[in-house]
Amino acid sequence: MSTLRDLAEEHTQLRPADIDHLHRIAGDWQLLSDLSFADLLLWVPVDADGTFLCVAQVRPTTAPTAYQDDQVGRIVGGPEVAHLEVAHRQGRIWREGDPVWYGDVPARHEAIPVRLRTAGGEAGEVVAVVGRDTNLSTARTPSQLELNYLTTADDLAQMIADGTFPPPRHPGETTSAPRVGDGLVRLDAGGKVTYASPNAQSAYRRLGHASHLVGEDLAVLHRRLAADPLEGTDAANGILAALRGEAPPRREIDARGATMLTRALPLMPAGVPIGALVLVRDITEVRRRDRALITKDATIREIHHRVKNNLQTVAALLRLQARRVSMPEARVALEESVRRVASIALVHETLSMSSDEAVEFDGIVDRVASAATEVAATESTVGMRRKGSFGVLPAEVATSLVMVLNELLLNAVEHGFPPAPESSPTAAGPSGPEGSVVPVVPVPEAGAPVPEVVVSAHRFRKMLHVSVADNGQGLPPDFDAERGGNLGLQIVRALVTGELRGTIELRAGAHGGTEAVLVVPLTRTPGSGP
Ligand SMILES: Nc1ncnc2c1ncn2[C@@H]1O[C@H](COP(=O)(O)OP(=O)(O)OP(=O)(O)O)[C@@H](O)[C@H]1O
Ligand SMILES: [Mg+2]
Repeated sequence: MSTLRDLAEEHTQLRPADIDHLHRIAGDWQLLSDLSFADLLLWVPVDADGTFLCVAQVRPTTAPTAYQDDQVGRIVGGPEVAHLEVAHRQGRIWREGDPVWYGDVPARHEAIPVRLRTAGGEAGEVVAVVGRDTNLSTARTPSQLELNYLTTADDLAQMIADGTFPPPRHPGETTSAPRVGDGLVRLDAGGKVTYASPNAQSAYRRLGHASHLVGEDLAVLHRRLAADPLEGTDAANGILAALRGEAPPRREIDARGATMLTRALPLMPAGVPIGALVLVRDITEVRRRDRALITKDATIREIHHRVKNNLQTVAALLRLQARRVSMPEARVALEESVRRVASIALVHETLSMSSDEAVEFDGIVDRVASAATEVAATESTVGMRRKGSFGVLPAEVATSLVMVLNELLLNAVEHGFPPAPESSPTAAGPSGPEGSVVPVVPVPEAGAPVPEVVVSAHRFRKMLHVSVADNGQGLPPDFDAERGGNLGLQIVRALVTGELRGTIELRAGAHGGTEAVLVVPLTRTPGSGP
């Protein structure tokens, strides 16, 4: 399905700022739809002869829809949209006219011009029209609640035409805003409650206010109810700001173990502050769940910490055993196992410090890479370099990938730059007791490239592309890049094609040496997050 932006860019001449404004309307207009008991359609003019394109639609959660079918993407001209044309051309809300019929649904049409404020705060030109279409089939004598909703809706509709609704967004507001059905309070210009919906009344009762809200000064009430005086003052200031015509950020009030989220909106049709709309939602349960999640996070971190400790113990045991055995091959094998276990421990160490099940992988790669140069069975100095970034990886990808990289890096150092056979008696490897290794730095031939391994990573279209390239002596001539290798490459292939569901290719580098190319999909498995 095309997005609002796609549609507007394809069919209209709207400027990016106009489209942003339309996005903000579509982000906040459920409120107006619910208060109006009406469908809202956002129409943009596609040409001068009165043809309009529907770029967004919202249905009321408080009343039946007037449209069973999706209207987005429809391009309509002629009598059906004549009212939109009037609102657009004359810049006023259009609401005269007889009911129209959609199949067997009678509907009332209204049209609200959408203006954008200029940088100087003046009302600018009309860029779009909101169609407000009410399904009349269930209309009856409106209740108190309905009358209050409709009056407030008309104020907000006027503010759309003025360019003062929706109010600017506050960054970082993640909890979804309270909706009309959660609880609605209307204040007059003096801050006194003129109407409170039954759900709003219940939400305040949970905070400890049992009597009727109508007539209360809401700012004073908030200050009195909040358990924390600072929070109370803050909540009161929010109400006062809305009464002055500002749009304060959402606030939470805690009292008696209950939590209420509030959103205060100024009401200022035609620029005149006439009061405020306060939406409230009891979020006690949400906050309780949040707290439970925080303890769950801490537990997971603790588990990672312990896994890391256990892995380090295993590594220490293997290291101890490596020192005891006399057979050089067995010792090398054990030492390799130590490195493999230690590299997994590194991931768990990082996970034990992060707050979610994902790790910033670059730091891990850098540590594994420097460990590979230090411990590899070679005495030459090999430079390590990382190009690009792995970014944040889910834990399950990270644990497998670190093993793979560990093997590839060790191979690059060990096999790309093997010690010269005649160099020294200790050249067989660092396998003597600790301290007995005499580093022998081979003298590079004149003009020979500096030994180097480059790890590069970049993300593209939800795929992680990794290459480990060395400028060493290259693969043996008879090497079978598809199947050849010992335990190291077996581990690599098993993890890449298994756990990581990716691909690996081992090939000669473009400028000599060897390059391992890895592609790993980063599409998340179901249930692993949003
Ligand atoms: N970067 C490289 N440069 C040159 N040769 C390589 C490179 N990577 C792998 N090879 C060749 O591939 C072989 C198989 O590698 P593999 O990692 O499977 O085993 P290994 O390193 O010999 O032993 P281990 O099982 O301990 O890792 C190596 O012995 C080496 O000949
Ligand atoms: Mg190897």
